Amino acid sequence: MAKRLEIATVPHPVLHQQAREIRDINHQIVELAKNMVETMYAAPGIGLAAPQVNQSLRLITVDLSVGEKPDQLIILINPQIKEMEGEDIDEEGCLSVPEIHEKVKRPLRVLVSGYTLEGKERTIEAEGLSARVFCHEIDHLNGILFIDRLSPLKRSLIRKKLRKQRVS
Ligand code: NI
Repeated sequence: MAKRLEIATVPHPVLHQQAREIRDINHQIVELAKNMVETMYAAPGIGLAAPQVNQSLRLITVDLSVGEKPDQLIILINPQIKEMEGEDIDEEGCLSVPEIHEKVKRPLRVLVSGYTLEGKERTIEAEGLSARVFCHEIDHLNGILFIDRLSPLKRSLIRKKLRKQRVS
């Protein structure tokens, strides 16, 4: 049975680390992926990266339907953005940065590749929200949060807001 994992929130140090590449898709990785899917659906969220559950590994889960359509679930190991094109500005949030939503500039289209839990290479063409989610989750693997992509002024305002959340 998959279980729900605790989601790390700012300023947890794991969120700012470069995650490790996965060399061997063993049963622990498979179990972690299943638990991440369960955690993502429960949150609910449309994407989750392993560092958000305190595992510094290059593994992401994405499901724009949040479990409504089983074929929408994507689990990718060692994902990489191979190509990007265009520009799109839209609001983003993150389960690790509670209650903050800001507009972030992302590529409009991306080509993402990685490995499935069966070790098969998978390439995905994503556009709009889907491209945004892949960019956001892969950023997590590089220790980057969406708030790190905002202007310094906006970032400092958000830091103040987050500090206030923590003390209240
Ligand atoms: Ni996030």
